[in-house]
Amino acid sequence: MLPRLSVYILISLPVLLVQGSSADKKKSPAAPATPPSRPPAPLGDPSWALGLRLYQALRSDSSSVNTVFSPLLVASSLGALGGGSAGTTASQFQDLLKTSSPAKTGGHAGELVSRALESFAKANGTSFHLHTSSALFSKQAPPFSQAFVKDSQARFRVQHQPLGKGDSKADLKQLHGWVKAGLGGLEGAPLAAEIQAKAGALILASALSFKGLWEREFSEESTDHRTFLGKKYTKVMMMHRAGLYRHHEDMENMVQVLEVPLWQGKASMVFLLPFHVESLHRLEKLLTLELLSKWLEKTNISSVIISLPKANITSTLSLQKQLSALGLTDAWDQNAADFSGVSDKSKGKVHLGAVLQWASLELAAQSGKSDVDLEEENIEKPKLFYADHPFIIFVRDNATGALLLMGALDHAEGEALHDEL
Ligand SMILES: *[C@@H]1O[C@H](CO)[C@@H](O)[C@H](O)[C@H]1NC(C)=O
Ligand SMILES: *[C@@H]1O[C@H](CO)[C@@H](O)[C@H](O)[C@H]1NC(C)=O
Ligand SMILES: *[C@@H]1O[C@H](CO)[C@@H](O)[C@H](O)[C@H]1NC(C)=O
Ligand SMILES: *[C@@H]1O[C@H](CO)[C@@H](O)[C@H](O)[C@H]1NC(C)=O
Repeated sequence: MLPRLSVYILISLPVLLVQGSSADKKKSPAAPATPPSRPPAPLGDPSWALGLRLYQALRSDSSSVNTVFSPLLVASSLGALGGGSAGTTASQFQDLLKTSSPAKTGGHAGELVSRALESFAKANGTSFHLHTSSALFSKQAPPFSQAFVKDSQARFRVQHQPLGKGDSKADLKQLHGWVKAGLGGLEGAPLAAEIQAKAGALILASALSFKGLWEREFSEESTDHRTFLGKKYTKVMMMHRAGLYRHHEDMENMVQVLEVPLWQGKASMVFLLPFHVESLHRLEKLLTLELLSKWLEKTNISSVIISLPKANITSTLSLQKQLSALGLTDAWDQNAADFSGVSDKSKGKVHLGAVLQWASLELAAQSGKSDVDLEEENIEKPKLFYADHPFIIFVRDNATGALLLMGALDHAEGEALHDEL
């Protein structure tokens, strides 16, 4: 197995090196004299803090495959609803958005989340194509306070949507219609479990589809069929590119860290790839905000040959179990929940019924525009970042450092191969 792989790599290496340096003969230094400054570190950011805890809760279920979700959208939905709660319900919401170290930028979690949402919306169409929508659905709930509706819309982009009078089937139909519009016409995967919204139930829903546009494209000529060594071995389209990227190898933990900028630098994608073929459990157990911050800080601009599968990762998640495990307990209980800021007639009735998210991430070859204007890269002794086995992905905002997406690719769809071992 291994010898065969290295032959592939050796064949493709010279081709990529030629491609990488043929665009222009102008010489340029291997790395810019002053590399662009980095986005704020994950430490102190509520979307990273919540994202990492939720990710670990989701992945502790061994049946989870190809997970993807938006920490920022979960944080903003919870921030919006938390704003309408009081008492211990409110403090449980606040605890979810708390960071271990005080935010460097100052300001409270809600403000950071709100600023990050704005930053991503501005970068839409430049660094990526993004469709997203968040709503608070309510089932036969008393009238909402206008101040609450206005605040959740203005700061967190969460719209209020009453559910119809029908049964749970009708509710689900309404939700799916909303998801499809939110994903820009993409059909969201169905929920694994039924939604049984009782009178007074609030359902937080968010939907997001994301396609990054690289700063430098992976050319179609260098795309070919390769084997992805995931849960099953499959034949997939892999794309390749040699260039200068922020990269770090953690020898002790045996993981490569790679940051790939998106068009015009408004956001980037970060990849964590174990050195060897293995499931992601070992790496996932290691993850802490401190370690992630350290890794990102240690990446430095190096020559790298990147090979990535073309893939879509999609998830439909119901997060009640995970959020409860992280301490959000009162909100679900009609008697314990205090949503007096949502409605002054909420007592004993208004409660959280579900937190749902539909997310989809596309890994494709395109960049934002032709890269003729970009400086030539001088590739020397490149490292290989050969992602033919499971890896973890993050999408982070450049300006605020916030975490828009976090996911894992355990399996890439493609023609199944016989196990050749
Ligand atoms: C992003 O831009 C597209 C195309 O202009 C638009 O349809 C979509 O609603 C935008 N998404 C967000 C989140 O603003
Ligand atoms: C990215 O963020 C850094 C640090 O905040 C900033 O200096 C730089 O101008 C930003 N780049 C873009 C393209 O917005
Ligand atoms: C990048 O990494 C190399 C090798 O570890 C090191 O020698 C170099 O000083 C680093 N450069 C920066 C800018 O950190
Ligand atoms: C991912 O999804 C998009 C949009 O649905 C589709 O055009 C593309 O071919 C898909 N990519 C793969 C590798 O399946």
